[in-house]
Amino acid sequence: MIVLGLSGALTHDPSAALYIDGKLVAAAEEERFLREKHAKRKWPYHSAKFCLEFSGVSPLDVDIVAFPFAKISLFRPDRWHFAKRYWYSPDRSLTALFNGNRRFRRNKRGIIGLMDDLGIDIEKTPFVPVEHHMAHASSAYHLSGFKEKTAILGIDGKGEYATTFFGYGENGKIYKIKELYDPDSLGGVYGAITQYLGFEMLDGEFKVMGMAPYGNPDTYDLSRLIQCDGKSIKVDTSLVNTVGLRRYREEELGYYFSKKLVKWLGPKRVGDEIDDPYVDYAASMQKLLEDISLQLIETYLGDILRETGKLCFAGGVGLNVKLNQRIIDLPYVDELFVQPAASDAGTAIGAASYVITKNGGSVEKMEHVYLGPSYKTEDCIDACKKHPNQPKWERLDRVPEIAAGIIAEGNPLAWFQGRMEFGPRALGNRSILGDPSYPGIAERINSQIKYRERWRPFCPSILDESAKEILQTAHPSPYMTFAFNVADKWKQKIPEVVHEDGTARPQVVNKNTNSRYYELIQHLKKLRGVPAVLNTSLNRRGEPMICSPTDALNMFFGSDLQFLIMEDILVKKSTKE
Ligand SMILES: [Fe+2]
Repeated sequence: MIVLGLSGALTHDPSAALYIDGKLVAAAEEERFLREKHAKRKWPYHSAKFCLEFSGVSPLDVDIVAFPFAKISLFRPDRWHFAKRYWYSPDRSLTALFNGNRRFRRNKRGIIGLMDDLGIDIEKTPFVPVEHHMAHASSAYHLSGFKEKTAILGIDGKGEYATTFFGYGENGKIYKIKELYDPDSLGGVYGAITQYLGFEMLDGEFKVMGMAPYGNPDTYDLSRLIQCDGKSIKVDTSLVNTVGLRRYREEELGYYFSKKLVKWLGPKRVGDEIDDPYVDYAASMQKLLEDISLQLIETYLGDILRETGKLCFAGGVGLNVKLNQRIIDLPYVDELFVQPAASDAGTAIGAASYVITKNGGSVEKMEHVYLGPSYKTEDCIDACKKHPNQPKWERLDRVPEIAAGIIAEGNPLAWFQGRMEFGPRALGNRSILGDPSYPGIAERINSQIKYRERWRPFCPSILDESAKEILQTAHPSPYMTFAFNVADKWKQKIPEVVHEDGTARPQVVNKNTNSRYYELIQHLKKLRGVPAVLNTSLNRRGEPMICSPTDALNMFFGSDLQFLIMEDILVKKSTKE
């Protein structure tokens, strides 16, 4: 059975994923092809085309198209909850009750049009909608590989109406325990405070998390934003998750927080510095998210976790590595799997895997995220020949060794190999690498290319054999989705990848999933004595991760980077440039 999963239901992060007989053979985000971060208000045309072409599947052979957004019946609580809570904006309330599947119909029209554009037979190929949070849940549970009864957690901004999902998986089936509905959304409040702190919603949440350790969570009490009685939450919509006239506005732009919030906390933050009181607000917000999430996990998932200890998690908030650290620290959690594409891009995988299992099939465990396009050395040479900057390139043998040599001399290295990663993290195929023991390397990367806020942490990729000693845990961490406390001895050895609070967000690398990258780190270990490399994504600030060799060259020549390795070639800038 061939199932194509498509996402983009909520006007951001469209993506495509293709399953052939239960195996995930290709997946990619649309933003990488369009070169436009989050590809807002776009359908996943290029990504779907890539999945089909890469797998050698004709559009006419697709059996099912799965989509992570479904109709919600008026007989369920979702729309009534929404209508009741949005009383202050009556047009929204009434729309939820009388025309509550408007967005579903718009999505369906868009996807049917896309299927047609792709050459899929729209008469014969069923379009199967899957509830948004069920798709997130499936992307976590069905890809976790967990065999025992597994608790499932989903937290995002919102899907159709649901914002939070508690359930479990057993024998390949997912059961819902409880959902919370818009506007009562933890992800929504975190997003609103992200905006208040001067970052973009659905993008800057990482920055708030990165800022939080610099502040004191107890200086300001933000608990009035979200009341939690242990079973559900109630967001104060006069402050956050705000719509209509209550919204704070700046130059025609409406925000998801209110004028009242600004009156309470002071003006919206501007600039790149971390300063009072905003760092303390970030710290309080992070703590509020963690405390309430843990309370709800205990209420709805505690019993299952005490039984088997297995938890899986998806939805945008699943990328909050500090929350995940606290979840792993719970005495009854043995293993947490977070879908590496936890935000909406991952719902393409989720919708497809859900439909497969619903039809009696099974899906394989996710072993890696290298699911995007790949290019041969000849393609990279071709790209060099055609590039206006006329790069000089040389062919290398012993690529990992030479790469490690460049890094060991204190240089940032642009590193391009194999299939592009699916999900927001570069995991050694589209990365900028540096020596984490080399003082000032993080700053050098920032000044040569990233130009990102200097207080944001860089992360390590660590050899599996050394991970336990450095991170003081044997918990798996292949995708940079968790933070762990770095052992004191190692804090001094790899200071460039240890955050303000003494944690690191690691990718533990094993030889089976990325042998060339593994070898590179082994060589670096020989040269510098550290079994780890600093790894940040291959892109400039504000642009999506690099996809093709031409993208890599454009980025390279648009930055001060000096070294680029693409497959088996090295591109160096001459000293004049
Ligand atoms: Fe979502």
